[in-house]
Amino acid sequence: MKILAIESSCDDTGVAILEYDKAGQPKILADLVSSQVKIHAKWGGVVPMLAKREHQRNLLPLLKKVLRKSKLLKNSKSEILNSKQTLNPKSKIQNQTLKEILEREPELLKKLLPFIKKYPKPDIDYVAVTNGPGLEPALWVGVNFARALSYFWNIPIIPVNHIEGHIAANWPNEKLNAPHPPLKLRGGEGELFPAIALVVSGGHTQLILIKKFGDYKIIGETRDDAAGEAFDKVAKMLGLGYPGGPIISQLATKHQSQANHLSLITNHFLLPRPMINSGDFDFSFSGLKTAVLYLLRKMTPSQIKKSTRVIAAEFQQAVIDVLTAKTLSSAKKYNTKTIILAGGVAANAALRSNLSLIITKHLSLNFLVPPINLCQDNATMIALAAYYQLTQKRAKKANWRTLKAQANLRIS
Ligand code: KG4
Ligand code: ZN
Repeated sequence: MKILAIESSCDDTGVAILEYDKAGQPKILADLVSSQVKIHAKWGGVVPMLAKREHQRNLLPLLKKVLRKSKLLKNSKSEILNSKQTLNPKSKIQNQTLKEILEREPELLKKLLPFIKKYPKPDIDYVAVTNGPGLEPALWVGVNFARALSYFWNIPIIPVNHIEGHIAANWPNEKLNAPHPPLKLRGGEGELFPAIALVVSGGHTQLILIKKFGDYKIIGETRDDAAGEAFDKVAKMLGLGYPGGPIISQLATKHQSQANHLSLITNHFLLPRPMINSGDFDFSFSGLKTAVLYLLRKMTPSQIKKSTRVIAAEFQQAVIDVLTAKTLSSAKKYNTKTIILAGGVAANAALRSNLSLIITKHLSLNFLVPPINLCQDNATMIALAAYYQLTQKRAKKANWRTLKAQANLRIS
């Protein structure tokens, strides 16, 4: 079974093809992400209409590349002549329908029409697509692209919740030909649930109770900024560029090694740990961002320059302290067997090692974390989620006529 997956919920355009063998083992045939970081960096954050424009530009070239890489793009003349599509007498109706589907994405339509007519239908069984949550104009591009392919190639669409995709990047697949960390589940796969997933990205910070595959309940979430968003905003204040997470993480690591080297343990830049003792599982990162702002206002530019690393390290530690405390107390309350980390911020080395140490050494729970390349937005995670939905017979095969993007889609 082959799943073509499409992700366009924010500023990364992702297209991937996963093949599952009869034993249900997945193999990534191709997985490409086109990042728009450089385009949005100028604005210090993602501009939805620019994201829409870039998804329109990127989707078809990426599709071609993944099909070619997966050896699914048949291109010989005889094959084209034999192809039903090119001889199809309903060609006019097909063109009209594709025009209607991609009415709001004319640039994508212009690219898609010659492609879809030229190449025979590839050997793909399903098209999976992120239909929410995310930026509405960005989501629609991927959804409409999937609708067009589903209609023209006559294959079912599986809509996937982006957050479920991030979580699915963790599911045990030893043969997944991606650098997946070895999974050592205590007591085997049956001992996975109940689990708590901490999903931390640029758009979300949620604690999700998972009773079994597909059974999700949000037990806490941010009341304002997402963790990744806070990293991005603080980086902007420090003049570090976008996205802020990786830059702050690098500076914090540099500070840490220097501080260890010099045995510096005093920190003059203590920041708050918002809501750490609130007694619930909600978060708030907006106050932390403001605390950094007030701190910077009291400093001269040269003081800021000298202290950038230590501020980055303190800010990162404040975020990690809150995330860790809430995750551990939720795991305790719900008596979970596993803690799962997911989302773009899951790439943060200090967060990974902090949680891993406490969870596996001190609490003896399973700890799952995706390989770094599957933390940021990608289409492989969407294909993985679609596959799990299919195997658990809960895949909602959508109709290309009615599928919609849902910016505020909730997982529970
Ligand atoms: O999941 P993702 O790719 O997109 C959304 O769904 O939002 O997450 C992007 C976010 C950005 O805010 C970025 O700054 C953050 O993940 N991020 C990190 C790191 N790498 C990416 N945050 C902290 N540390 C990192 N190493
Ligand atoms: Zn994401």
